[in-house]
Amino acid sequence: MYDDNPTLVGIKKEIIEEIQGQAFGDQGIETVPGTRMFYIESYGCQMNFSDSEIVASILSGYGYGATRNLEMADLVLINTCSIREKAEETVRKRLGQFNLLKNEKPHLLIGVLGCMAERLKTKFLEEEKLVDLVVGPDAYRDLPGLIATAEDGEKGINVFLSREETYADISPMRLDSNGVTGFISIMRGCDNMCSFCVVPFTRGRERSRDAFSIIAEANEMFERGYREVTLLGQNVDSYKWEKPDSGDVVNFAQLLVMVAKINPALRVRFSTSHPKDITDEVLYAMARHENICKYIHLPVQSGNSRILEMMNRTYDREWYMERIESIRRIIPDCAISSDIITGFCTETEEEHLDTLLMMEFVQYSMAYMFAYSERPGTLAARKYADDIDEEIKKRRLNEIIRLQNHLSLEHNKADIGKIFKVLIEGDSKRSADEWKGRNTQNKMVVFPKLSLELKPGDYVMVKVNKATSATLLGEIAQ
Ligand code: 5AD
Ligand code: SF4
Repeated sequence: MYDDNPTLVGIKKEIIEEIQGQAFGDQGIETVPGTRMFYIESYGCQMNFSDSEIVASILSGYGYGATRNLEMADLVLINTCSIREKAEETVRKRLGQFNLLKNEKPHLLIGVLGCMAERLKTKFLEEEKLVDLVVGPDAYRDLPGLIATAEDGEKGINVFLSREETYADISPMRLDSNGVTGFISIMRGCDNMCSFCVVPFTRGRERSRDAFSIIAEANEMFERGYREVTLLGQNVDSYKWEKPDSGDVVNFAQLLVMVAKINPALRVRFSTSHPKDITDEVLYAMARHENICKYIHLPVQSGNSRILEMMNRTYDREWYMERIESIRRIIPDCAISSDIITGFCTETEEEHLDTLLMMEFVQYSMAYMFAYSERPGTLAARKYADDIDEEIKKRRLNEIIRLQNHLSLEHNKADIGKIFKVLIEGDSKRSADEWKGRNTQNKMVVFPKLSLELKPGDYVMVKVNKATSATLLGEIAQ
């Protein structure tokens, strides 16, 4: 997630893409032939990308085919993000462009989905008149009905948030997939109320999905050739599902192990962990199972206890450091990444330094770094003034980025000479003569193909010869 410029440093660049939306279409997707076509563009977090796959599945059941070509579409959907102001501006601009298409194709329907739909509700229909459909994150099952309403010339809106909806029974239509790695949503919503965050308002209360439906989805993916699943939730550590027959509770560590046991050749990842909730039980499960990847995204947000308290993160600097030490003790080879917000209300220069020191302490392999952006309706917007000058925010953010670039490079340089098991995802960006894949620490590894026998989905041992801050470069080890 980025403000003006992507401030992503490091390895995993697809976690959250705000600036660059992605259209899903004919490349590598299962297109269900239909008389009508939909085009969907997604912004924001992995959860949004995962939701778009649920939407695609619902629409294909209603006779819609997917297209990547805007001009072929009868229905254009944009799955939106509200997390920072910039994200919403990007979506508004894009809606303006979609509306120009309506001049040539008057029957075209335009819909806004997700967090921004939830936040702005009827405002899109009444004031902005940019869209025909407004559908919140818990109302996707209602899409066929809302489309019918819009086809009749009425506006279709459903922004009800649910306490139960998990779309457990819907098999997502894999969009833009490499056929090797995919996401599985295990819970929805968030009960945390971090003071800067709009998510609890746009995605509602936390609820966990039926564990058996998660296992069934992972199983099906494995059968179809997938070799890595990422379990998704705003706060996966608070996953908790009660078996209806016995009343037994499945927690996150148990769910992880259940998925890991599907097959040793299926890698399991997860995102996002919360420092107050991640348990040693999860860490031991990771240590015990080779196929649970040794990588934890553990957002710190700030390295200063006073700021953490104002952020309502419910842990302090010492607590976070203790969790890091436990990770190091239980899983010595685990890579750790973070989200960092700079310039939160009242943050002093010294408190900013605490964040830099925390980054040094943890030695993050990668981080998503943001300047604080006040969001209407959040606790911070109601309680505190957004009082750090934009120039100061920018300077602090640059210091954080510069440090993280250095840390990422050092982290990667320490891998030179090591041999890693890499899951091949496809051709490297640069050349069809090279493979790209990830190691267990979620680092991108690029290496020459040489042998014709390998294919995406295969595991291969790769020796690292060179490193940049974002990629390891190597060769197949004998
Ligand atoms: N301003 C800046 N960054 C934010 N994030 C969430 N809300 C805001 C905000 N108002 C960041 C946090 C979170 C990530 C998903 O986005 O770092 O972990
Ligand atoms: Fe937002 Fe905090 Fe929930 Fe993450 S844990 S979605 S930052 S409220």
